[in-house]
Amino acid sequence: MPTPKHTLAFPSGIPAGYIRLDNEPEFEAEKHLQLESPSSVNTLSDLGYAAEQIADCPSNFGVSSAFRILSAEGLSIMRELCQEMYANRNSSLGTGNNRLGSYIRGAGYRSKFIQDFCDSPELAAHLSQIAGIEMARHSVPAVACGVNYAPEDINRAVDSWHTDSVAFDMVIMLSDPEQIDGGEFQFFHGTKQEGEALLGVTGEQGGTSELPAERVQTIAFPAAGFGFMQQGNMIFHRACKLNQRCERITMIPSFVVTPATANDATNSVNMSNWDDPGIVPELTRHEAWRAGARLDALIDDVQLDDDAGTLLKKLELALGPLQALRESLEKQAK
Ligand SMILES: [Fe+2]
Repeated sequence: MPTPKHTLAFPSGIPAGYIRLDNEPEFEAEKHLQLESPSSVNTLSDLGYAAEQIADCPSNFGVSSAFRILSAEGLSIMRELCQEMYANRNSSLGTGNNRLGSYIRGAGYRSKFIQDFCDSPELAAHLSQIAGIEMARHSVPAVACGVNYAPEDINRAVDSWHTDSVAFDMVIMLSDPEQIDGGEFQFFHGTKQEGEALLGVTGEQGGTSELPAERVQTIAFPAAGFGFMQQGNMIFHRACKLNQRCERITMIPSFVVTPATANDATNSVNMSNWDDPGIVPELTRHEAWRAGARLDALIDDVQLDDDAGTLLKKLELALGPLQALRESLEKQAK
């Protein structure tokens, strides 16, 4: 498959400890995708976000109902690959308050089929149309294709209340939902600020206590191969505890808003503290890519009568996220 046009190619090489699968089938969009549309969408306005908050987001899209993504054949291959990768899942304890139980980041390094699925222009075009904004596979491979498994200890939530460090992501159910007791995916019908205040947590930090039940919505997966999309940094969400030990595998592909000059909510500073191998170089590439595009645009944007204050503001806008990552790395390098 050619390098995707609108996002960064995967870096050459593979992070330490990640094992590539061999003998994989080749991903073919026409055979392995079965893209359908969601029957309902909650916009950010529906969830109570104010016009000024929505103006800071790339789109008013909030969270959709689950819709079919994978064909029966695509699902069967994907599930098998994820089962195979289980033995090579990330060993670190996850983000925030040890939020995730058992997971893989950077599945695209391990599986070419998964990388090609996440890179597929058909998938990106379909999701872009649903969100009303142009998107491409996320340029940070760690989050471009994640996989979550049931935690070994079923007393733990699969994933506690949080918002994501990227703007757009999907949760695709790969296991048979009929066979899963518990483990529901839920979102808070309200703003993240409200949800966080009710639980006394911030951002990526996991919250394990309960929100008012009448404001919590469960997303139903009609079958394996269905998934939903969310503007994950704006939706306060969780995956509940399982009531019984069982297989619960979800794939979490993430997307960047394109072109590279577009509003980007990727929280590189937060992610730079994750301990996945390769994550800091991946974030550096991502921020260099976005800053480079903004600097290119700045060349045309500078006017001969701009004063120092205006120019300073323009430079700060172009360099802000890169500078913020630089500062985070400075602390780590000490
Ligand atoms: Fe999440």
